[in-house]
Amino acid sequence: MAQKKTRRSFLDWLIRGGLTAWMASIFYPVLRYMVPPDVPDININRIEVGELSDFPRSSSKIIRMGRTPVLVIRKKSGNFKALEATCTHLDCNVQFKTDTEQIWCACHNGLYDIEGRNISGPPPKPLGQFDVAIQNEKIIVTKPELA
Ligand code: FES
Repeated sequence: MAQKKTRRSFLDWLIRGGLTAWMASIFYPVLRYMVPPDVPDININRIEVGELSDFPRSSSKIIRMGRTPVLVIRKKSGNFKALEATCTHLDCNVQFKTDTEQIWCACHNGLYDIEGRNISGPPPKPLGQFDVAIQNEKIIVTKPELA
C-alpha cells in the first residue's frame, strides 16, 4: 500500500510539474513580448549631418542622435535650425512643410513654427532645440549645453 501511495505521489508530482512547465512555456514568451528589454541610449552629443551642398534652401532631413530623431532644416534664408523631430503631444514624428516653413505633425494636425514653438493643434509645448554650427562646409548638430 505504501508503494502505491508513493507511485501516486510521484505521478501527481509529474503531472503538476508538466503543467507548470507547459504554462511557463506559454506565459514566458508573452511576458517577454509585453515587457521590452531596457536598452540604454547611446550617448552621442555631436553629429556631423552632411555638407552645405547636401541641404538646398528650404529643405530638411531627419537624422538620429542616439535614439532621438532630429529634424535639421535649412531655411529659405540659408540659416539652419535643428529641432527634436518628436511631437510633444503623443510622440509622432513631425515633418517640415517647405511651402509654409512650418513643422507639421500628421497624427493630430499639430503645427509648430520654424523655431519649434507650438502654434496650433494639440501639442502642449515647443519642440526640443539643438545647436547647429558650420565648420569647413560641414554641418554639425550638437545637444545644447545643460545648464
Ligand atoms: S502626436 Fe502630434 S499632434 Fe498629436
